[in-house]
Amino acid sequence: MSLTIIDHPMIKHKLTLIRKIETKTKDFYQNVEEIAGLMAYEITRNFPLKDVEITTPICKSIQKELANDVVIVPILRAGLGMVEGIRNMIPTAKVGFIGLYRNEETLEPCEYYAKFPDTIANSIVLIVDPMLATGGSASAAITMLKKRGCKDIRYVGLVGAPEGVDLLQNNHPDVDVYLAALDEKLNEKGYIVPGLGDCGDRLFGTK
Ligand code: PRP
Ligand code: URA
Repeated sequence: MSLTIIDHPMIKHKLTLIRKIETKTKDFYQNVEEIAGLMAYEITRNFPLKDVEITTPICKSIQKELANDVVIVPILRAGLGMVEGIRNMIPTAKVGFIGLYRNEETLEPCEYYAKFPDTIANSIVLIVDPMLATGGSASAAITMLKKRGCKDIRYVGLVGAPEGVDLLQNNHPDVDVYLAALDEKLNEKGYIVPGLGDCGDRLFGTK
């Protein structure tokens, strides 16, 4: 597994904004989307290309285009906030959905929804979810996709904890992980420290 912390001044600046307790829903959502968009540039850096023959207004020419379909899979709910930012960069990407929530006592992920495009097994799959805490949700989502035949899976999050990175490293060493920040630890309730609180609630104004 490779772990990439995407290091860019605008990502750091926007991340600070969403970490602040006073940032309200509209700004929070907009900045999550923008950070995901900035990350998309780096995540796509090693996407394979293929030759295609095109016709310009001048002549025929061999040029490059993406070799694989791309499927973005947000983990509901918070992953939804990252989808449009990445789609702006990859407008041909399809979108699948995984519904998981953490049991607040056991912190174990509970699955409640799954819907994927038919072509997902042969696509590059980007699992998106802002928070990698214990890693239980991300690990379960990757297992669900592997059961459907997916071979090229990458995890894209905003804030991770060392515990979550370690779990993915142990359970899914073949999956590359991209984060905007790696924080210190989890607290006794399984929240990332310093983190940004409950991302789903802050994105959608619940609580
Ligand atoms: C949050 C977050 C991740 C999960 C991370 O979702 O969006 O999916 O927790 O925690 P983990 O790494 O310990 O599994 P939550 O379960 O709160 O669901 P929600 O988005 O519906 O609020
Ligand atoms: N889920 C969140 O939304 N935030 C955390 O800090 C941990 C899990």
